Amino acid sequence: MKEMKHDSSTIAWNAMGDEWVELAQTGESRMCFIMPNMLKFMGNVKGKKILDLGCGEGGYSRELAKRGAQLVSIDCSKKAIEFSTAFAKEENLHIEHFIRNSNDLFDIESHQFDIVLCSMMLMDCEDLEGTLREVVRVLKPNGRLFASVLHPCFDGNHETGIGRQGVGIERQVVVMNYFEPKEWEAPLWKGTTPVIWRHRTLEDYVKTFLKVGLTIVDLNEPQASDEQASISVALAWLKKIPLYLYWELKK
Ligand SMILES: C[S@@+](CC[C@H](N)C(=O)[O-])C[C@H]1O[C@@H](n2cnc3c(N)ncnc32)[C@H](O)[C@@H]1O
Repeated sequence: MKEMKHDSSTIAWNAMGDEWVELAQTGESRMCFIMPNMLKFMGNVKGKKILDLGCGEGGYSRELAKRGAQLVSIDCSKKAIEFSTAFAKEENLHIEHFIRNSNDLFDIESHQFDIVLCSMMLMDCEDLEGTLREVVRVLKPNGRLFASVLHPCFDGNHETGIGRQGVGIERQVVVMNYFEPKEWEAPLWKGTTPVIWRHRTLEDYVKTFLKVGLTIVDLNEPQASDEQASISVALAWLKKIPLYLYWELKK
């Protein structure tokens, strides 16, 4: 049987233990901001065939399945797929799961999906172009890719990325170097196991989208509502700077 080809991203994410699930399901940025925004941008998914690529613990897949979509969920992490499979079963949801590197979706048929979702994963995979080529291959003609990434201009997670001078959200935001570093190892926010973080510039993303034949349909830099901002300082920052960037692309 063909095995997944590993690279630095799949090795790093396979080292992640159970902590990722806990972090994902309790992290207020994901639960109260990143996920609700993505679900809003995706709109009515009833009857759509969706590939959740880099599905993690499968929270998006379950939510989309509950909204009437047919889901295939893929991740390079064996542990993530085990959790996602178990959670789907608990909720009686029929979701197909595969362990794959996003740059080689072997045995996944071409031209079958209405939508591919890449939530917070295009900055993690090592091979962006290979991943996007596979996305294009499995999408139907006119199919859509919905993607969210850490905003390349406002990397809020790295010491040498954005600097926040002072205290609270009145601090000044200083961008140290937009071009470097390109990758580094660090735990996820509140986590302990290091993964590889990657910074891709807007130019890297957009030129690769165009190179593989995707067209940009929409771009969003959502701002936190007052209600979201009241949840935590991390979310309050999202009233001032867009830490997350969303695209809708068309094949
Ligand atoms: C930040 S998590 C996001 C998970 C999920 N999409 C979400 O938003 O909750 C990134 C996910 O991408 C997966 N990933 C990273 N590199 C990958 C690759 N090359 N192929 C497939 N999955 C990958 C990781 O295992 C992890 O589950």
